[in-house]
Amino acid sequence: MTRILGFESSCDETGVALIEVEGGRPPRLLAQALHSQIAMHQAYGGVVPELASRDHVRRVLPLTREVMAQAGLALSDVDLIAYTQGPGLAGALLVGAGVAVSLAAALEVPALPIHHLEGHLLSPFLSADAPEFPFVALLVSGGHTQLMRVSDVGLYEILGETIDDAAGEAFDKSAKLLGLPYPGGPHLARLAEFGNPQAYALPRPLLHSGKPDFSFAGLKTAVLTQVKKLGDAPCDQAKADLAASTQAAIVEVLVKKSLLALKESGLRRLVVAGGVGANAQLREQLNAVCARRGVRVHYPELSLCTDNGAMIAMAAALRVQRGMAKPRRDGGFEVRPR
Ligand code: KG4
Ligand code: ZN
Repeated sequence: MTRILGFESSCDETGVALIEVEGGRPPRLLAQALHSQIAMHQAYGGVVPELASRDHVRRVLPLTREVMAQAGLALSDVDLIAYTQGPGLAGALLVGAGVAVSLAAALEVPALPIHHLEGHLLSPFLSADAPEFPFVALLVSGGHTQLMRVSDVGLYEILGETIDDAAGEAFDKSAKLLGLPYPGGPHLARLAEFGNPQAYALPRPLLHSGKPDFSFAGLKTAVLTQVKKLGDAPCDQAKADLAASTQAAIVEVLVKKSLLALKESGLRRLVVAGGVGANAQLREQLNAVCARRGVRVHYPELSLCTDNGAMIAMAAALRVQRGMAKPRRDGGFEVRPR
């Protein structure tokens, strides 16, 4: 049996989780704790890297104690420590990696760096209805938008990705233009519930490119143009209509390109991961088109769509199970912001 303690600190959430691996059985999440810094960064309209690092320092050990208490275990019961190596904010990553590697040295256990996106990609394995390999993955976060063919753990082939902004960025930037708080994605989605998605004809760049690639920068410019037309005091309905139209544009592109990737790969399983995977419209529309085509769609639990420690511990667990983990014992580490 191997107990893995995982740390996530790439951006504005501090996440810690403990997972147990036993033979070939699905890894079991024993406990997890998360602290979101969203409220702290909201006043600045976005993540302030220096504040993020300092807050990770404040939170990481209390969260670790909380996880061990929840599991009813001691740190001496931990066999391996996993941490997010990147991509993310350099200072924020250094906090999680520094704590993880120091703790590993103190406990005389190995430390394993994990790629943040692999954590997102494998997060649906935390749900009872875990996907089977191979599958197509739509990875939609604040920093990334990619379609991938996932043949197994570690076997990832990028089928297409964004040439400019990520889907989450398109949500966040449009929301900011509409005067909504950071991070805008969920706020824009809530406002969109009251709007007409056909009210504004917004661009869907690369929709007909015939390739599973994305471009969202033009959408943000189009939203800006509409916001300017609305003037200084836009009425609530106009704002809701623009929010709904923006969401419709992003969701349509994500759905069409996912279908294209499924068709090209000949696969019938889709995994949606990353913060934007929490979007209700995206889920509804993907479910509808995939049901018609006999494609199974898997999502992480809603609370595990955005950054968390459990996905990092899970990625480590799946690697350990397959004998793929190459942990370090020498106390050295490096982070990879990009
Ligand atoms: O995966 P994540 O937590 O962080 C990154 O690794 O980037 O994703 C955060 C992104 C943000 O852009 C946020 O606005 C977006 O996910 N997001 C949403 C929703 N919930 C989170 N976007 C649209 N609708 C949502 N419900
Ligand atoms: Zn993330």
